[in-house]
Amino acid sequence: MCSTRNVDLVRSIGAAEVIDYSRSDFARQPRRYDVVVDTIGNRTLRDLRRAVKPRGTLVVAGGGGGKWFRPMALALKTVVVAPFVRQQLRGVMSAVTKENLETLSALVMSGDVVPLIDRTYSLSETPVAVAYVEEGHARGKVIITV
Ligand SMILES: NC(=O)c1ccc[n+]([C@@H]2O[C@H](COP(=O)([O-])OP(=O)(O)OC[C@H]3O[C@@H](n4cnc5c(N)ncnc54)[C@H](OP(=O)(O)O)[C@@H]3O)[C@@H](O)[C@H]2O)c1
Repeated sequence: MCSTRNVDLVRSIGAAEVIDYSRSDFARQPRRYDVVVDTIGNRTLRDLRRAVKPRGTLVVAGGGGGKWFRPMALALKTVVVAPFVRQQLRGVMSAVTKENLETLSALVMSGDVVPLIDRTYSLSETPVAVAYVEEGHARGKVIITV
């Protein structure tokens, strides 16, 4: 799922189907999916569950916006509701460890993972890079070279 300007880009990296969220609301469509992975976190748990089959799986990685508690709110709600519904509901947190970064680095070096890089900034341009990411519409990763 992405906005109109990224539809072709998302297809080009392998998506069989792309939903343009500015034209179609996945939570209001009749279609249900086996697995939904939310990496954005701007929809309610109810909306996300509506897109998942009765025995399907929802994985929530995105936060709910804001700086303190709100980024965790959706994941916490997911964990609290999970024992009471037939759908599998999961929250995931990234674990930024040396070991995981080395594994990721090896996957990139071998070409098994090809990161989509939007923009590259120098270290002195870090504030500009952060401001760009905070706009919320980067088209892939934003790199700072050191
Ligand atoms: N669970 C964890 O461990 C973990 C780790 C890192 C981040 N997070 C959370 O994950 C979320 C995303 O983080 P991020 O760093 O990936 O952010 P990001 O880089 O700012 O996300 C940018 C992407 O969001 C898309 N987007 C923006 N508005 C959207 C909308 N209304 N509907 C669907 N897609 C939309 C943009 O596509 P378009 O330009 O096409 O709109 C762009 O591809 C945040 O809430 C963050 O807190 C969680």
